[in-house]
Amino acid sequence: MRLTTFLALFFFPASVLAVSSPVVAKQSMVVSEQQLASQAGLDILKAGGNAIDAAVAVGYALAVVNPCCGNIGGGGFMTIHLANGKNIFLNFREKAPLKASATMFLDNKGNIIANKTTEGYLAVAVPGTVLGLDTALKKYGTMKRQQVMKAAIHLADNGYALTSYAVKLLNNSFSYFQKQPNVAAIFLNNTKPYRLGDILIQKELGNTLKKIAADGADIFYKGDIASAIINASEKNGGILSLRDFAQYTVQELTPIQCSYHGYTIVSAPPPSSGGVTLCEIANILENYSLTKAGYHSAHDVHFIVEAMRYAFADRNNQLGDPDFVNNPVEKLISKEYAKTIHQKILKDHAAIDMTPSISITHQSLNTTHYSIVDKNGNAVSVTYTLNSFFGAKVIAGNTGFFLNNEMDDFASKPGAVNQFGLLQNMANNIQPGKRPLSSMTPTIILKDKNIFMVLGSPGGPRIITATLETLLNVINYKMNIQKAVDEPRFHHQWLPDVIDYEPDTFSIGTINHLEEMGYHLKLQKTWGAMEAILLNPIDGILYGANDSRRPDGKAIGY
Ligand code: DON
Repeated sequence: MRLTTFLALFFFPASVLAVSSPVVAKQSMVVSEQQLASQAGLDILKAGGNAIDAAVAVGYALAVVNPCCGNIGGGGFMTIHLANGKNIFLNFREKAPLKASATMFLDNKGNIIANKTTEGYLAVAVPGTVLGLDTALKKYGTMKRQQVMKAAIHLADNGYALTSYAVKLLNNSFSYFQKQPNVAAIFLNNTKPYRLGDILIQKELGNTLKKIAADGADIFYKGDIASAIINASEKNGGILSLRDFAQYTVQELTPIQCSYHGYTIVSAPPPSSGGVTLCEIANILENYSLTKAGYHSAHDVHFIVEAMRYAFADRNNQLGDPDFVNNPVEKLISKEYAKTIHQKILKDHAAIDMTPSISITHQSLNTTHYSIVDKNGNAVSVTYTLNSFFGAKVIAGNTGFFLNNEMDDFASKPGAVNQFGLLQNMANNIQPGKRPLSSMTPTIILKDKNIFMVLGSPGGPRIITATLETLLNVINYKMNIQKAVDEPRFHHQWLPDVIDYEPDTFSIGTINHLEEMGYHLKLQKTWGAMEAILLNPIDGILYGANDSRRPDGKAIGY
């Protein structure tokens, strides 16, 4: 077979194209889970901005049109591939307040106090998004802040029509909003839940965004906005202080890099566990021939799940903020280490019992990811979050935006689980000024140093496995990017000792086979939204895929 024919089949099997097709564009592409935000990014690209300018525009726009998850009150990560070949990672993860302590969420018997890590001001870590976006724009963008924030300000001031998906998200938190007059004034419609087609206007957020557009990050970290947050925190049992905001920093780090069957994975380093865990799993899987037994066959699932399990055990026990703990990154992403795990899995041939089981697992859809490629060959992959839907569910005074509950990502009590059922350890204990370990995995995959895929997802720990499965779907199972994104997923995170799976992932026969091998399986209905772009190396065409799990999202290109 000629190489071009082979590659054409590789990227576009006809049967697959007929079912789910990605959006096609020649120059640039923006994919996010809210189409108004995707449009804001594309408008910036069309006005001559680069992918970083567009990423800042989308970041602010999502804070308005996707208020559960897009944010200025949270934090996140940006992975950048510049057209000149340089790979960059911006860490704007939140930090624990300086008054935080390892035992702050424990009662006098040493037990975690219910809801304190997730609701109210004690759950809030120092937000990083505003300084993160501002740093990206100043260092790698080309446009002025006012220009890239214009769409977000317009959407906040003039409002936008709520979709049924947006209404559902707001109404799920109705009881929280109702209790707080300043939140109810914005997110309830005259004390009633919003309905489909209602216009959500956010004047307070518009004012906050205008202040940031005019004065930059200083107004957020040293000015009015910091004061408003600290004031509200002090009145409501929080510990945030002016020093926390004034000392907040964004870091430029070297991304994690590893190879997988000739592709280069560029992803998030600690304080995210994403890149390390993704590379560890990919390295283990490189030792297997995955496709022979068939897609989602018990054979393939067994190897993938075991690789996930070993990698998550390492993640949960060994990783934390590198400013505070030593992360054995080199070992964990080395091919030699992967070979030792591969040998163990081969020997076992069945589900291995690594530890006692725990049963708490809560997974949901919050957090948000977006991917951008511009016409000059720059790519940006951003995942940022408030952690839970609407974060800690509090808004400081009239600032108009929700604050995160990222403190729950720490191991509040090493050995106890957090809201994602993650059992973590001392490496991720709470310390003043420390960043909690994250699973966010904004990733760029290169082929011969050129952009091949830009991808990422929300979903707590399932972010890592969603990213893995999407890249396996393309690289091993030869799917087009839309199908790769939409395929049902499964997940194992070491503990609890179960394979979570989405409806329609496995045949009954496969489920039976996996159970015979000793696996426990659990159906889960809500999964993250992969927002991905593939650049076909043959013809240079961009293929954008919004996850069909997110009806409001869109890939838009030109
Ligand atoms: O950083 C993390 O890993 C989490 N705060 C992400 C939370 C998330 O994706 C929520 N969605 N399920």
